[in-house]
Amino acid sequence: MSAPSNQAAWLLAAGSPLQVKEAPIPTAGPGEMVVKNFAVAINPLDCHMQDHGVFVQQWPAIIGCDVAGEVYEVGHGVERFKKGDRVIGHTINLVSGRPQDGAFALFTTVPIDKAAILPKSISYTDGVVVPLALEGAVCALSVKTPGIALPGVSTPALGLPYPSLEARVDSVGRTLVVYGGSSSIGSMTTQLATAAGINVIAISGAHNFDISKQCGAIKVVDRKDTLLVERVVEAVAEYGQDKFVGIFDAISSPETYADDVAILDKLHGGHLACTHPPPANVPANVTAGMIFAVNDVATPVWRNFVTPALESGRLKCLPPPTVVGKGLEHIQDALKKSAAGVSATKLVVKLED
Ligand SMILES: NC(=O)c1ccc[n+]([C@@H]2O[C@H](COP(=O)([O-])OP(=O)(O)OC[C@H]3O[C@@H](n4cnc5c(N)ncnc54)[C@H](OP(=O)(O)O)[C@@H]3O)[C@@H](O)[C@H]2O)c1
Repeated sequence: MSAPSNQAAWLLAAGSPLQVKEAPIPTAGPGEMVVKNFAVAINPLDCHMQDHGVFVQQWPAIIGCDVAGEVYEVGHGVERFKKGDRVIGHTINLVSGRPQDGAFALFTTVPIDKAAILPKSISYTDGVVVPLALEGAVCALSVKTPGIALPGVSTPALGLPYPSLEARVDSVGRTLVVYGGSSSIGSMTTQLATAAGINVIAISGAHNFDISKQCGAIKVVDRKDTLLVERVVEAVAEYGQDKFVGIFDAISSPETYADDVAILDKLHGGHLACTHPPPANVPANVTAGMIFAVNDVATPVWRNFVTPALESGRLKCLPPPTVVGKGLEHIQDALKKSAAGVSATKLVVKLED
């Protein structure tokens, strides 16, 4: 049998289109496995990396953070996975800089603590919407001590419990507002917070209420409501103002920050966890930070929660995928579509049936 060959959608320089070319087959070190990718997902981060070269440490680069596929090789001492397992995984080119850690290839290295078995009942194109969003959601919810997201910008540290297979909503007496409930990371944060027993009040477009409800939000407020701030404050008060933890703002734009600050003002402060650098000069009673979605805090969730929760339906592959095409050459088109904006979906490229 001839050895398989690898190909990747290479980024040769910032601002240039991806080019599909040969790549070395990765090898798995300790704590790693090599995955033969059946599907990869697109994230807004990939567009920033392509357009501006942010976080790229080594050129040419292979970017991309989400894979679903079959284990091809495991590193020395790896016991949790074996060749042929169906898996999903979060790839970490962002921090390692190594091309073999980028998702946009036929074969990719994945750390075993950022991967889980994908149940047979779930397709690769569905499962691949989970990884980066999951790790980002855990970073938004469960970091206990602030770390460094970017120079001069701390990570949020809400210190909330991990999702569990049993916890019921309102069982921990905490309420979190999720701004951008239909976004990939907003819907995953809603799901994981709900599965931790936290009440989630989501802010979403009226056309996307259903997705926030499917993720477990106890109340959804229309992002276009002219009384948005008052509606959110009322919803929080309904469950007891003393339970209010703060806001996870998945969108983190100047407009959403203005609403966040107004809501936090009326609720006497709290956490503001952002996906981009937080607003400057927040009031003293607001603790603001930016998540950095590669963090070992997610390991217990990957190890203990993801597979059984996917099996039982407690964790859903939301927002649903939109498959842009089949083959590495479709990734560039998918990136273009992502940059144009999506609504309650994750763009996915299939690589194998
Ligand atoms: N710092 C990190 O580690 C990290 C990690 C992951 C993501 N991010 C960042 O987080 C952001 C979200 O990423 P994503 O992948 O979750 O995005 P996404 O799924 O592509 O976001 C699109 C969704 O956001 C909704 N939306 C847009 N503007 C909104 C607003 N003003 N209010 C409420 N909903 C709004 C859209 O709903 P409509 O249909 O209503 O327009 C749509 O469903 C990106 O900027 C990304 O770069 C950062």
